[in-house]
Amino acid sequence: MKILVTGGLGFIGSHTSVELINKGYDVTIIDNLVNSNISVLKNIEKITGIRPEFHKIDLRNKNELKKKFRSNIFNGVIHFAALKSVSESVKNPELYLTNNVEATKNLLDFIASKNRKTNLIFSSSCTVYGQAKKLPINESSPVVKQESPYGESKKICEEIIRNEIVINKNINGISLRYFNPIGAHESSLIGEHPKGIPENLVPYITQFAIGKRKELIIFGNDYPTIDGTCIRDYIHIKDLANAHVSALEFLSKMKKENFYDFFNVGTGRGTTVLELIKIFEDTNNIKLKYKIGNRRAGDIIAAYADIKKINTTIGWYAKNTISNALKTAWNWEKQQSKLNDN
Ligand code: NAD
Ligand code: UFG
Repeated sequence: MKILVTGGLGFIGSHTSVELINKGYDVTIIDNLVNSNISVLKNIEKITGIRPEFHKIDLRNKNELKKKFRSNIFNGVIHFAALKSVSESVKNPELYLTNNVEATKNLLDFIASKNRKTNLIFSSSCTVYGQAKKLPINESSPVVKQESPYGESKKICEEIIRNEIVINKNINGISLRYFNPIGAHESSLIGEHPKGIPENLVPYITQFAIGKRKELIIFGNDYPTIDGTCIRDYIHIKDLANAHVSALEFLSKMKKENFYDFFNVGTGRGTTVLELIKIFEDTNNIKLKYKIGNRRAGDIIAAYADIKKINTTIGWYAKNTISNALKTAWNWEKQQSKLNDN
């Protein structure tokens, strides 16, 4: 089975490529390296023993894919490539529309031009639900007006993929709505590599713990939750990566044409910011001297997934603990710091 992985040198794409290769898939990666490093390719090879084919391609360039893969056939495509900073998207909405939406249109155009059965998996986000009225959030929860152009780009991409599949019987597809991926590969060879100051909690914590950041601020402790801090569903990156493999396996057995659906990918459990910090401290034997700050604009109070749909339909469920994810995240940060020292 030949699988094209867009954005395959990024955080989730690299871990998914490893899981795919380990299961015997023939992986080809494309990435424009805007938020990743070519060294990830070598590290995927160190982990799996196989160097996937790689092409530096920017998906915004409409004809590059067609030119590069004129005679290639892919049984599956996993589309990770996107920009993902909420704050950057507010400052530069146009960039997010071209990079995330145009890129997805170009990819669909490429897949359609092949006139061959292709299974497509798209990286969506629980951000499409906004602050859901009912928790845990199931897939019937409405997709709401998005606060950020980033969220809007995910919503639009889901729609254009669905619309293409309605008219194209060669494509079957799934959007996976991820909750909060955290952690790194147990080898510490691949992990999350945010450029600049991390926006997300776990890379911020590990950079603070290693001394790269001066202070760790908790964005608000006056929310209506058990300890006043926000609740999220943190999922181990390895589990998330495997959800893609399971989704591909599911689509490869699919008898229907024009099949499209979307699934939550989380653990089903909510964890507050303070609880997560405590798990990090206990797991890694480190004390974090955090401060309480103001609420962050746009933060939702609580989000955790109802995972019945993916569990009963695809047979996937999360196996790893938050503690294990925080151990691997910390090991990865220490490894990065060693490399920078040398
Ligand atoms: P990442 O930035 O680590 O990986 C994305 C990769 O795509 C990068 O390697 C980047 O260089 C590449 N890329 C971006 N634009 C490109 C383009 N135009 N052409 C080719 N390559 C391009 O991000 P990630 O955390 O691995 O996220 C992967 C996907 O999952 C994204 O679509 C993101 O929006 C989505 N997602 C992420 C999270 C999260 O918390 N990390 C949550 C929900 C959804
Ligand atoms: N937080 C802090 N201090 C920090 C960083 C984060 O207190 O320094 C808090 C946030 O306020 C929030 C929680 O930690 O309550 C988690 O924040 P993240 O930024 O890690 O995660 P979010 O759920 O807010 O957002 C992330 C991505 C979005 C994506 C969403 C769902 O940034 O793009 O997960 O996948 F849509």
